[in-house]
Amino acid sequence: MHIAVFASHGGSLLQAIIDACENDTLAMEVVLVLSNNSDAKALTRSAEHNIASVHLSSCTHPEKAALDAAIVAQLKLSNVDWIVLAGYMKKLGPKTLSEYRNRILNTHPALLPKYGGQGYYGRKVHAAILEAGEKETGATVHIVEAEYDSGPILSQVKVPVKPGDTIQRLERRVKNAEKKLLVATLIELSQQRKAASY
Ligand code: GRF
Repeated sequence: MHIAVFASHGGSLLQAIIDACENDTLAMEVVLVLSNNSDAKALTRSAEHNIASVHLSSCTHPEKAALDAAIVAQLKLSNVDWIVLAGYMKKLGPKTLSEYRNRILNTHPALLPKYGGQGYYGRKVHAAILEAGEKETGATVHIVEAEYDSGPILSQVKVPVKPGDTIQRLERRVKNAEKKLLVATLIELSQQRKAASY
């Protein structure tokens, strides 16, 4: 299975996927890393692992429809089967969504449907959870539909909020759990696909 990983910033989730592929835990291949941010560390990580990468954004394609078409063209060129949004901060266009319907995963650092949707991204999610005095948070992997953080949930992991947590500490704890959840979900998906092909 060929996957494309979309990432906007650090790419530590991308790194977890690459590591799992390289140590044969995960029977998939990352054939493309796509970022909307030319300075994303995710792009450096892909270069370090000889994975093709591309920067596509409103800078390279000011027209939304042209950007959407360029993303699909690149995915086809790279023979991508599935897309994983791992810290990708942009909404996908209608062409990408329809071409890869039910084959796009997103990971979100909270227990959806709570703390999801417009405005809940990055550290804002953890800040809101601390502000609300939640005792528990977590991460969710789901199939992507048109709206932010919407679509059928595939897996979730719970993470405790501890007394004295700062945004950074909570983010670190959630991200560690999120990486494991994402890799485990991809493993399950690859096994289901293998079983379906027999
Ligand atoms: C993850 O927590 C993801 O759920 C959120 O952004 C974070 C990405 O982290 N949308 P990184 O860039 O992979 O380190």
